[in-house]
Amino acid sequence: MTIERTFSIVKPNAVAKNLIGAIYSRFEAAGLKIVAAKMLHLTREQAEGFYAEHAERPFFGGLVDFMTSGPIILQVLEGKDAVRRHREIMGATNPENALAGTLRADYADSLTENAVHGSDSAESAAREIAYFFSEGEICPRTR
Ligand code: TYD
Ligand code: MG
Repeated sequence: MTIERTFSIVKPNAVAKNLIGAIYSRFEAAGLKIVAAKMLHLTREQAEGFYAEHAERPFFGGLVDFMTSGPIILQVLEGKDAVRRHREIMGATNPENALAGTLRADYADSLTENAVHGSDSAESAAREIAYFFSEGEICPRTR
């Protein structure tokens, strides 16, 4: 398995609860390396563009309200099988279904306010990374 990149967000509820460090610790403990990071307070346009695949879903308006409700931390994670392993660490979308010890089981407040985002495939990861980061903002880790 080659080294892969995935895209991650610490969502507004987790930033508000001072959980940035706790969440970064989980990534690092799992061997996922942070190779890019920034804090942003998304505009509605940015949030709608990011979640465009869900534009027709009934929860879309509430999701955009939530994602623009406060600052978020965005990062690119690098490691073996990063997309799948990051989804494993996050747990199921609905925290009621998330396995014990996952980020969503521990830090989600609801289905919408579920603390973290992670790309669902290598194709999504490439698109989501490019949505927020230029190539020059990503710092490959040599050690
Ligand atoms: P989705 O891409 O299905 O989940 P994931 O984040 O695990 O890839 O949905 C995107 C976000 O939309 C999800 O993290 C939380 C929110 N959402 C709702 O608010 N209600 C819903 O019924 C679903 C499916 C998602
Ligand atoms: Mg998704």
